[in-house]
Amino acid sequence: MRVRKILTTAVIWSGALAGAVQAQGSSTAPDTGGFVVRDPLVLRKCGGCHKADSTGRVARLSWIRKAPEGWETSIRRMASLNGVKLDPTEARAIVKYFANTQGLAPGEVKPARFETERRLIDYTYTDGPTDRTCRACHSVGRVLLQRRTRAEWELLIATHRGYYPNSDFQAFRRGGPSPRDSAPAPHPMDQAIAHLSRAFPLHTTEWTAWSATMRPAPLEGTWILSGTEPGRGAFYGKLVATKVPGTDDEFTTRATYRYARDGRTVTRDGRSIVYTGHQWRGRSTPVGGTADSAWREVVSVEPGWQEMSGRWFRGGYDEFGMDVTMRRSVANAVVLGVEPKALRAGTKDADVTVFGANLPRLTTPAGIDFGPGVTVSRVVRSTPDELVLKVSVDDAVRAGARDLFVSGASMRGALVAYRTVDRVRVTPAWGMARAGGVRFPKQFAQFEAIGMSNGPDGKAETADDLDLGVVPVTWGLEEYGVTYKDDDITYVGTLSQTGFFTPNLDGPNPQRKGNRNNIGDVWVVATHTPTTPGARALKGRAHLIVTVPLYMRWEPTRTAP
Ligand code: HEC
Ligand code: HEC
Repeated sequence: MRVRKILTTAVIWSGALAGAVQAQGSSTAPDTGGFVVRDPLVLRKCGGCHKADSTGRVARLSWIRKAPEGWETSIRRMASLNGVKLDPTEARAIVKYFANTQGLAPGEVKPARFETERRLIDYTYTDGPTDRTCRACHSVGRVLLQRRTRAEWELLIATHRGYYPNSDFQAFRRGGPSPRDSAPAPHPMDQAIAHLSRAFPLHTTEWTAWSATMRPAPLEGTWILSGTEPGRGAFYGKLVATKVPGTDDEFTTRATYRYARDGRTVTRDGRSIVYTGHQWRGRSTPVGGTADSAWREVVSVEPGWQEMSGRWFRGGYDEFGMDVTMRRSVANAVVLGVEPKALRAGTKDADVTVFGANLPRLTTPAGIDFGPGVTVSRVVRSTPDELVLKVSVDDAVRAGARDLFVSGASMRGALVAYRTVDRVRVTPAWGMARAGGVRFPKQFAQFEAIGMSNGPDGKAETADDLDLGVVPVTWGLEEYGVTYKDDDITYVGTLSQTGFFTPNLDGPNPQRKGNRNNIGDVWVVATHTPTTPGARALKGRAHLIVTVPLYMRWEPTRTAP
């Protein structure tokens, strides 16, 4: 009943009819030349309310472009508020149809990849008023992944005001609703609409160019996989993609990779759809794993189909994840990474592993070159995927990152030679966790401690500083002094000796003064004791905000096969 009422309000606000959704006014202005909708399933399932005109333009639907997640959100809303009945296969087919015919080009998606990849970043959109107005409730990334006519941007905001009357107070109008719209200065929402209509119009040269040549990405075959996972470090392996019979844009996948630091090997089986010729959305589970270990895969295929990159993730708040890059496997040798990634001057015969693909079988160090001052005395093991070497570094080596050459293959800045660890940098520099475990999921946080050397100039925070990779540390929490007699560290949660923060339970805590929630601000502190004789302990820290659960979740991004 309540839903009906909200819908009716929305329909009035959005200027749509009860029963049928009204078409756009003029279709002669260049920006309103909407897309013809041809899909019989769409016309059958949506046409009852979204009426087609004599030219095949369909009310509302013809004047919008979105990423697949955006289409999925709308379709979910049509199901929950408008009683549209679709089985999962139909829903998927409709998302695919719209993503392919009214989607976004690679260049249009790029600035907002953080949104679909579910990255926790502090993003500020360049247009101040739009940023303030449209980031009050959700990420502005959601906005950047849509293109509309001006009339459609207006209707979107009208829909917001209908569904969420509070939006006027929270963001859209100065001082909330006034009886008449004759205020002298434009309301924030008017400024945002004006900006969005200019910056994100329905028709763009990017989309015109991309859609003219768009075709299913032929991703079948073997890909060289590499990436990093916070807390676990770099991993290397391969992914084999096989077309799902009867489709040209759906794949089953098997990924096998090994973590450089602990040698653990993982095999994952997955399935993915590639929307708009470049947006990979998949789901994979480790072989022998549990449902809980299912990861979502959001990957962008580079035009040319030789490389793709993105994030695989899981968790109540998508907070567990890894950055992945895949390169098409060719016959050439490729160097992907080196572990450890830094060696101190004076190091003797350290084990160094070079990870790659199609590496030549080597028995002697001839042909392996780390540059002056770094010598390889022996090849311990040689396989197509890795070389294990004994490596020494001169006392007088010039500090810096060195390119590595292995029989014709190379990698820029593969190994860093350094003298001293001068600082510890904790990443991320700020983190967020959410209390949970009672009524809501917990949001966890993983920190890493990176050793930093001041580099040749001996000065901190200059361009020649050297990143030495993860260094061993002890972890602890310290009070973030915003409140006198602060007691946050007693309540917010615990930090493990691997830098992993587990928040406390959600809800008021009777044990805490004032029956407060287990939330607060703390420092996450890493202490590293360098092995250099006489060196003092080094501390690095990051700010951790432990906050309440996200009580209202408008989760738009579940697009996966
Ligand atoms: C029972 C009527 C009804 C049916 C059937 C229906 N819709 Fe809608 N649709 C609406 C109404 C009302 C609105 C305007 C309010 C809103 O956006 O929620 C709307 C708005 C939309 C919008 C614009 C939202 C925005 O601002 O981005 C999209 C997209 C959409 N519908 C997609 C679909 C698709 C796809 C189908 C078929 C699978 C469908 N609708 C079927 C009633 C319907
Ligand atoms: C008062 C809170 C609030 C503010 C302020 C707000 N939004 Fe939203 N927005 C929401 C909610 C809630 C949803 C989820 C609606 C749904 O999908 O059911 C949403 C969804 C969206 C969507 C996805 C809807 C779709 O069907 O594609 C877009 C795009 C969007 N908002 C744009 C904007 C823009 C542009 C602004 C600034 C002018 C803005 N929002 C400001 C609450 C807000």
